[in-house]
Amino acid sequence: MGVIRSHVAGVGAYLPSRVVSNEDLAVRLDTSDAWIRERTGIRERRIAADGELTSDLALAAAQDALRAAQVRPASIDMIVLATATPDETFPATATTVQARLGMTRGFAFDVQAVCSGFVYALSVADNFIKAGQAKTCLVIGAETFSRILDWNDRTTAVLFGDGAGAVVLEAGTGQGSSADRGILSTHLFSDGRQHDLLYVDGGPSKTRTTGFLRMEGREVFRHAVVNLTEAIDTALQTNGVSADDIDWFVPHQANQRILDATARKAGVHPSRVVSTVAHHANTSAASVPLALATAVGDGRIKPGNLVLLEAMGGGFTWGSALIRW
Ligand code: ACO
Repeated sequence: MGVIRSHVAGVGAYLPSRVVSNEDLAVRLDTSDAWIRERTGIRERRIAADGELTSDLALAAAQDALRAAQVRPASIDMIVLATATPDETFPATATTVQARLGMTRGFAFDVQAVCSGFVYALSVADNFIKAGQAKTCLVIGAETFSRILDWNDRTTAVLFGDGAGAVVLEAGTGQGSSADRGILSTHLFSDGRQHDLLYVDGGPSKTRTTGFLRMEGREVFRHAVVNLTEAIDTALQTNGVSADDIDWFVPHQANQRILDATARKAGVHPSRVVSTVAHHANTSAASVPLALATAVGDGRIKPGNLVLLEAMGGGFTWGSALIRW
């Protein structure tokens, strides 16, 4: 029986030009390149310039994805932008991107699931397409996490970076099997009881300020491996495929040790893991589309490949998506 499938028509990325190395951070913080690399795999991160906003990063990634997909802004029905660092409390940063793309129709909104934001946004767009409410969707993950970091806190400041990635989804058809092209499944999870392990200590309603990121790193690490393994197993079981069938595993880029442990538990060979954490650090909602854009751009991900995405973030929120490229 024929089913609607969301096909990935193009992928794009944008990184701010300023590179900040571990050594640069060690000048102002009690840390070292060796500590950061050993514990996280991170070597450097990009930091947005003064006045460079999440919407600037998002727009550049969106334009790159639209070029790759050969889709004009006028054809887009819907923009879903995942971010925890919007330009303003309101309106949604997605509407700023909509205006700057020159779109005068369709609709645009933000999704807030922190580091899982892109997987959540992809799931939302996929379901709008499957429901017949949109045919062409722009899904963006964009962050300026540098703006919510406490630059005096070495336990968090070294872990994050700024950036944006985007994909264009187009409605297509399939047979309802795992051989179909497009998004085969998305699975989302959350557990609001874990708020205190990873949160920002400010917000419009609570403090009238933006606040800074606070984290119990060790606890987050422990939960991440368990939760991500659950999300991966669910994706594989739902589609009747095994870890050996995965051509490329594109995880959220938080920490190389989490990537390694999750891939090992899931049974994905290390040579199949896309890792950009060394150069991007953790860019939250931007991390998965940035890694996707890297692996598509260098020719690793090819049409027909089975690609597994996963992410976990504050809330906690977590999820997975399985895509036949
Ligand atoms: N430089 C030098 N020393 C540091 C630094 C630093 N930047 N940060 C912490 N330390 C010190 C600590 O103070 C501690 O010192 P002590 O032993 O004298 O008390 C020591 O290093 C060990 O600290 P731990 O927190 O136990 O180190 P750990 O091995 O757990 O590594 C890390 C910390 C990297 C944060 C790790 O727990 C982690 O990656 N957790 C996951 C967090 C994460 O990825 N969050 C992102 C959002 S959620 C997500 O995306 C999945």
